Amino acid sequence: MLRVVVMVSGGGTNLQAVLDAVRDGKITNAEVVGVISNKPNAYALTRAENAGIPAVCVSPKSYSEREQFNEALLAAVDSFSPDLVVLAGFLVILPELLIRSYKNRMINIHPSLIPSFCGKGFYGLKVHEEVLARGCRVTGATVHFVDEGCDSGPILLQKAVEVRQGDTPEVLQRRVMEEAEWQLLPRAIDLIANGKVAVKDGFAQIL
Ligand code: GAR
Repeated sequence: MLRVVVMVSGGGTNLQAVLDAVRDGKITNAEVVGVISNKPNAYALTRAENAGIPAVCVSPKSYSEREQFNEALLAAVDSFSPDLVVLAGFLVILPELLIRSYKNRMINIHPSLIPSFCGKGFYGLKVHEEVLARGCRVTGATVHFVDEGCDSGPILLQKAVEVRQGDTPEVLQRRVMEEAEWQLLPRAIDLIANGKVAVKDGFAQIL
C-alpha cells in the first residue's frame, strides 16, 4: 500500500476527488494517511476529518522564523512516513529540504497546461484570469513531479480544457477542475501506486 500525504491550503476539492477515488476503488494500492494544511481554517481539514483521516495544520504564523516553520513542516510530513506527497492546492513556497527529501516522490496539480501560465505568481484563480486576459481558446491542468524550481518538474499527466466565450475566471476554474484536475490527480496517484511511473533523466515515463 502506497502511503499518501496530501498537502492543502484551501477548499480541498482535489483532496476530495482523491478520497472519493480511493473509496470507489478508482485508486488502488494506496491510502491517504494524513492531510497537512498551512491554514487553520482550510475546509480541506474538515474534509479530512469527515473521512476519518488525521489532519494537522502547520501555520507559518505560529513561528517567528521561516526556518522554524520549514522544520515543522518537514517534521509533519515525515511523521506520516509517506511514500508519496501530493500537493493539492498547497500554496506555500516549499522548503528546499522538503523538496530534496521527497525527490521523485512528490507531485503537484497545477491549473494550466505547463509551461503556459505557471511559475511565480501563477496560482489559483490568478491562472484563469491570465488565461482569459490573453484570450486563450484552450487551457487545462497538469500533474508534475516537484523539483527545486517553480512548476518546473517532470510532467506526468496533462489534459486540455476548452475556454468558452463569456467565461469568468470562476466559471473557467470550475470547468478546469471538473474536466481535468479531479480526473488527473486520482489517475496520477493510481499510476504511481501501481508501479506504472518512472522518472528518468528529468522526464516522467508511463510504463
Ligand atoms: C486547484 O485549482 C489547484 O490546481 C490550484 O489550487 C486549487 C486548489 O483547489 N493549485 C495551484 O494553483 C498551484 N500552483 P482545491 O483546494 O479545491 O483543491
